Amino acid sequence: MENFIAGLPKLELHLHIEGTLEPELMFALGQRNGVTLPWPDVASLRAAYEFDCLQSFLDLYYLGASVLVTEQDFFDLTWAYLERCAADKVVHVEIFFDPQTHSARGIPFETVLGGIERALQQGERQLGISWRLIMSFLRHLSEEAAFATLDEARPHLSRIHGIGLDSSELGNPPGKFARVFARCRELGLPVVAHAGEEGPAAYIWQTIQELQVRRIDHGVRCAEDPALVRYLADTRLPLTVCPLSNVRLRVFDKMADHNVLTLLEQGLCVTINSDDPAYFGGYMGANFQALANSLGATREQLCRLSLNGVEASWLSLADKVKLTQEIRGYGACHGVALY
Ligand code: HPA
Ligand code: ZN
Repeated sequence: MENFIAGLPKLELHLHIEGTLEPELMFALGQRNGVTLPWPDVASLRAAYEFDCLQSFLDLYYLGASVLVTEQDFFDLTWAYLERCAADKVVHVEIFFDPQTHSARGIPFETVLGGIERALQQGERQLGISWRLIMSFLRHLSEEAAFATLDEARPHLSRIHGIGLDSSELGNPPGKFARVFARCRELGLPVVAHAGEEGPAAYIWQTIQELQVRRIDHGVRCAEDPALVRYLADTRLPLTVCPLSNVRLRVFDKMADHNVLTLLEQGLCVTINSDDPAYFGGYMGANFQALANSLGATREQLCRLSLNGVEASWLSLADKVKLTQEIRGYGACHGVALY
């Protein structure tokens, strides 16, 4: 099974680039930029990765991001992630970045975007990994702040492929951003949003009805609403599920309790993703492996999860056909039914 997973072509559609900052790189960049971290060393930082909810993680995640200052920092961060992707046979990525995390510290938009984009372009040339870039708004900040960020991004919009919504879910329902998301859609940008990670199924309905999302990030709490599960199965509106993240943030007590295979068998377009892999204990390969180890996922199910990634991606039809053939030509994926 390990060899099978290692060679299975994978697509990652839910990944916060700031969440790929490994402790070693965090300390190296802190030193390079004269930013002092509140931990004496890598070991004590790692020891702080004991989260009991989303907020306990976010507090640490925003602190960690404070070492990212120069264009080269954003390049190095993204390049390290792409090398992990190549090692895990990830062939396409659609990644989030949080400009507000950096603009609040006075880092110019172009510094952030330029560094990330340069690494993605190099990754496409040297590693053959295709990509899309999604700008996320922080939902704990105001609608006004999101509009200001959109204004700042306006000169660069041709380099951004979509809009997302992340950060503290509880108390910040999707409807808070209905108007700014409508503006983004008018500008031709597809939108996605985190919902139903810690928040209720009602938040998922809001992302559908008020934000008109193309995908839901997480969405696992849809299971609490049978009508919503039916809707998601009928429409194949994708959920980008992050198994290791969900266990580390206590959305599920243990991996054996995770509902992703149940949702898969109910006909939903669920995909597997790593979210913030430096903080949650593993990249794409580790997430697939966890499903095999703890949920008894079969090779056929893992193939379908990868194929769902193709379906849910924003690749061109021609590229989707190419990747579908590549996955279906792989080992036990041969003959797996296309949805
Ligand atoms: N949930 C919400 N916001 C986030 C996350 C997450 O898992 N990671 C980074 N920002
Ligand atoms: Zn996320």
